[in-house]
Amino acid sequence: VTIEATDRKGRVHHLENPPGSSLMEVLRARGLPVAATCGGARSCATCHVYVHGGYGSVGAPDEDELDLLTESEHYRAGESRLSCQIQLQPQTGRLQVELAPQD
Ligand code: FES
Repeated sequence: VTIEATDRKGRVHHLENPPGSSLMEVLRARGLPVAATCGGARSCATCHVYVHGGYGSVGAPDEDELDLLTESEHYRAGESRLSCQIQLQPQTGRLQVELAPQD
C-alpha cells in the first residue's frame, strides 16, 4: 500500500506500507492532524478525507457514512470518505488522499 496524503497546508506526505488497519489510524500514526474524536465509531466526521486517486479501490461509502458526510459543507460527491471506514488491504494499491477542511 502506498499513500500520498496532502495535509491542510498543502504538504504532501508519502506513506509506504504503513502499519495500521484503517486509513485514519495510519494518518494519525504518521502525525497528520486527523482529530478522530469518536475513535473510529463513525459518528464525528473529523476524519473526513477526499480520495483523489484510488476511490474505486476503496469503495463507496455506505448509507450511514454518506449521511454523516453529506451533513458537512465540505462534502464532495465521489471523493469524500471517512478515513476510519477505509480498511487498508494489500490489494488497496495506491491511494491519493487529502484532508478535508475542518467544519
Ligand atoms: Fe469519527 Fe471517523 S473517526 S467518524
